[in-house]
Amino acid sequence: MPVRPPTSEDISVLVVDDEPIIRRSLRRRLRYEGWAVAEAPSGPQALQVLERQPVDLVILDIKMPGMDGMEVLQRIRQQNPGIAVVMHTGHGDIETAVRAVQAGAAHFLEKGGRGDIAAVLRMAIEKTATLERKRLAEENRQLAEEVAAHRERAGARWKLVGSSPAMDRVRSRIARVAASDVRVLITGESGTGKEVAARLIHAASPRSERPFVEVNCAAIPEELIESELFGAERGSYTGAHRQRIGKFEQANGGALFLDEVGDMSPRTQAKVLRALEESRITRVGGQKSVEVDVRVLSATNQDLRASGFRSDLLHRLEVIPVVMPPLRDRLSDIPELVRHFVADLESRHRQQPRRFTDDALAALAAHRFPGNVRELRNLVERLLILSPGDEIGAADVAEHLSPATGAGRERSLGGVLASRLAACGGDRSAAAASLRTTRGRFEELLAEFPASAARAGR
Ligand SMILES: Nc1ncnc2c1ncn2[C@@H]1O[C@H](COP(=O)(O)OP(=O)(O)OP(=O)(O)O)[C@@H](O)[C@H]1O
Ligand SMILES: [Mg+2]
Repeated sequence: MPVRPPTSEDISVLVVDDEPIIRRSLRRRLRYEGWAVAEAPSGPQALQVLERQPVDLVILDIKMPGMDGMEVLQRIRQQNPGIAVVMHTGHGDIETAVRAVQAGAAHFLEKGGRGDIAAVLRMAIEKTATLERKRLAEENRQLAEEVAAHRERAGARWKLVGSSPAMDRVRSRIARVAASDVRVLITGESGTGKEVAARLIHAASPRSERPFVEVNCAAIPEELIESELFGAERGSYTGAHRQRIGKFEQANGGALFLDEVGDMSPRTQAKVLRALEESRITRVGGQKSVEVDVRVLSATNQDLRASGFRSDLLHRLEVIPVVMPPLRDRLSDIPELVRHFVADLESRHRQQPRRFTDDALAALAAHRFPGNVRELRNLVERLLILSPGDEIGAADVAEHLSPATGAGRERSLGGVLASRLAACGGDRSAAAASLRTTRGRFEELLAEFPASAARAGR
């Protein structure tokens, strides 16, 4: 509720008292000052009035049957902190008056007292308005702090770790393409950080305050992808009960990330091409087209030149290519990546900090990671959970990698979780503690890795 300026012409007061005589005498006195006066004979009725109409000040009797003045005061402070409250106390009841002021009343008046009531009330309104301004400023400051902290967390999440020459080249290219509006096609093997790169480009671009909208072209069935991208008018297809706004429109002013763009059908490719050429889209079943201002970023792990992707669309998407190097071309980044993942996972799951020995890092660097950084990250998480010691050594790494095949045959995490749970007699908290993780994380892992399926990769 906005704080009203304390001009005497425009003040509205609510008088709360169970005695009609007192309400009447206050009403007369305040109307004489030119103020608007509302009345309520009880606490609950007073609160109802406050819900219905703007009030600057409440004069509140302390002793009332049912809800007493102190309780009403408390409710008002919680629900309408901008309203000034002045307690109306019986003769000599200074103690209660003091308690009321401590609980947030701006002032008190003695019943039947003389003196300039209007001056006291004006002062109370001013005092409350000043406090309210301070409170709002503090609230704004806290909100701004929260937003900044949130940004920082989000920023830390999308980070390309590694100081190898290959990563440095990627970072400087990202910085250069971010500044302009050019379309960027990001290529690279699975798990090399293509999505991270796309988000970083957007975050460093002039559009960063506008939405980043992602479409995974591989995950959406062919019949739905058009309405997903361009939206649909009501009744345009079975099941379209409402108008639907597509990703192009959602991304207006910002960026649209076409992930796994190589999986787009020829038909959809033709439509996307038109949208890019015209900067306009037409909703499925729609008559007129809508202008959109969208920066398109795309990513693929396919070789689009060899895969039969439309070359005219390819040229439009790939004004500038960004190539994410596979992990094997930047083995020197592995220790830094491991430290980063350990710190990240441990802070998120509040685990004891632990380190990988140099031998362990060397063993990791010697391994081939077809799933690149994602696979490394998953492996680090498993090692943190499954290795019992204070440090993770080469033997722990070896145990989770099979030298016989060279590929990452990981021990079944689901199996380990299940046997720990059995060993702890089904006590999930104890099983989580024995694995040095939190109960919550343990539940997540159980859901993600059922005992029967030993999954690798994602
Ligand atoms: N250089 C890096 N530094 C830190 N984390 C990284 C790096 N590269 C990738 N990651 C992390 O690895 C995981 C996979 O990254 P991302 O999803 O961007 O890969 P991708 O190339 O899009 O993979 P896919 O082709 O499978 O979709 C994410 O958890 C990401 O945060
Ligand atoms: Mg991806």
